[in-house]
Parts: sequence; C-alpha cells; structure tokens
Amino acid sequence: MDFGHAFALSLSLIALLSSATLAQPASAPAPTGPTNITAVLEKAGQYTMLIRLMKATQVADQMNQQLNNSAQGLTIFAPTDNAFSSLKPGTLNSLTDQQKVSLIQFHIIPSFISVPQFQTVTNPLRTQAGSGEDQFPLNVTTSGNQVNVSTGINDAPVANTVYTDGQLAVYQVDKVLLPIAIFRPAVPAPAPAPGGKAKKKKKEAGAPATDADATADDSATSGPAVGTAAAAVFAAFMLVVGQGL
Ligand SMILES: *[C@@H]1O[C@H](CO)[C@@H](O)[C@H](O)[C@H]1NC(C)=O
Ligand SMILES: *[C@@H]1O[C@H](CO)[C@@H](O)[C@H](O)[C@H]1NC(C)=O
Ligand SMILES: *[C@@H]1O[C@H](CO)[C@@H](O)[C@H](O)[C@H]1NC(C)=O
Ligand SMILES: *[C@@H]1O[C@H](CO)[C@@H](O)[C@H](O)[C@H]1NC(C)=O
Repeated sequence: MDFGHAFALSLSLIALLSSATLAQPASAPAPTGPTNITAVLEKAGQYTMLIRLMKATQVADQMNQQLNNSAQGLTIFAPTDNAFSSLKPGTLNSLTDQQKVSLIQFHIIPSFISVPQFQTVTNPLRTQAGSGEDQFPLNVTTSGNQVNVSTGINDAPVANTVYTDGQLAVYQVDKVLLPIAIFRPAVPAPAPAPGGKAKKKKKEAGAPATDADATADDSATSGPAVGTAAAAVFAAFMLVVGQGL
C-alpha cells in the first residue's frame, strides 16, 4: 500500500517533470509574429508625429513587410515630436506627398546597424529614400559610443537607443534629418567669381528662413537669383579685367 502510493506519486512526479521539460522548448521561441514598427514606436511614446507620417505615407506598411521578409533588418533614426515641432512652421505642409514619403524614408536604413557597427559603416549610408552624394546623403560619425548623423543640411547626435532586437534598431534623434534633395536643390554657383559677393547675396535671399529649414519653394526662388547675381558679378569682373588690358 505504502509502496504503491509512493510509486504512483513518483510516476506522477515523472509525468509532471517530463511535461515541464517538454513544454519549455515550445514556449521559449515565443512566436509573436513579425515586428510591428508602429507598435514599437507607440510603446516608446513621444513619436506620434512620426507614426502619423509613417501611416499617411504608408511607409509603416512597407517597413513591416520588410521586417517580415528581409533578413537584413532595418534601422530607423526616429525624430521625436519635439523634433517635428521645432521645424520651421509650415515646413511639412510645403512638401508634396512624394517629398513626405522621401523625407520619412530618408530616416530609414535598409539594414540593422548596432551602435558598435556604426564605427565601421561606409559613408554616405544608403537610405530607403535612395543614395547618392547629391540627393540623399546621410553620414555617420562616431566618437566612442556617441553616434552623430549629418545630412549636409543639419546634423544630430543619436540621443538614445529606443529599441533593438537584432533585426530592428530604433534610435532617437532630436531633429528631423533634412535631406539635400528636398531642402536645398540649388547647387553653389559654378562661376569662379569672387565668392564673397555671391555668398552674401545667397544669405540675403535665404534670410527669412534663418537656418537650413528653407523649403523647396524658397530655394527654388532663391536658386536662380543667386546664379544670376553670380553671373553678373563675374561679367562685371571680366569687364574690369578686359578694360585693364
Ligand atoms: C501594428 O500596430 C498598430 C498599433 O498597435 C496596429 O494598429 C496595427 O494594426 C498593427 N499592424 C499589424 C500589421 O499588425
Ligand atoms: C510574413 O511573411 C510570411 C511569409 O512570406 C507570410 O506568409 C505572412 O503572411 C507575412 N505576415 C505578415 C503580417 O505580413
Ligand atoms: C556632428 O557632425 C557635424 C558634421 O560632421 C559636426 O559639425 C558636429 O559638430 C558633430 N556633432 C557632434 C556632437 O559630434
Ligand atoms: C559624407 O561622407 C562622404 C565620404 O566621406 C563625403 O564625401 C561627403 O562629403 C560627406 N557628406 C556630408 C553631407 O557630410
């Protein structure tokens, strides 16, 4: 009786243990489905503007599909709500739908990059918006664990790692990263004119914008004016030189 009781007990104990060990491998990988970028950002807080733009431009869907399908992973430089509200008023409204898509895609790198990996990346990084020195260059410099991102228009340190899981990395930036393609389409005047005057003129033309936040419209209007001014200065210069001879 005693023996039988003990035997039954140990049997049930064995059953319990084996069911426990069997259950463990099943629950460990926890198949929670593909990572959802908007859910990650919502959980982090302070990214309502970014989430809204990602949804409006359908970049959120794109990213979720990439996270589900690609082994490369994704890295996102996520501007906070404060970053968006410190843009020059009207900046976002002045953009076309396509420019909004590009602006958001500019903040996304189509591979997972950990903080240490930033030390060995090749500049400029390829963003979802495209690459190319003159359109969407995004450069990263590091100093120890400090990562600094620059666009040729503005720059921002990585303020914080919001999320990282080996596939998706989300880094907080306190500025909206401004790509050249959208915020400064005009190239410097090619004329070898006495640079000072052309530069000064350009500053005046861009004066209302104060900083690099010039909208595409501003630049479009100031661009040709700068070129004309530089050409005029150059012509005057040539005239003086010509008379001198
Ligand atoms: C991702 O998360 C957001 C917010 O939690 C939710 O509204 C959306 O339906 C989710 N998308 C997918 C594909 O699960
Ligand atoms: C993820 O990818 C798999 C395989 O391609 C597909 O069957 C599944 O529907 C995808 N899930 C989502 C949420 O897109
Ligand atoms: C970030 O990079 C820019 C451009 O390379 C530089 O002007 C700026 O000083 C750097 N900022 C930091 C915090 O390293
Ligand atoms: C980015 O880095 C490349 C390669 O070092 C350099 O040629 C380019 O001028 C840099 N651009 C900006 C915007 O810092």
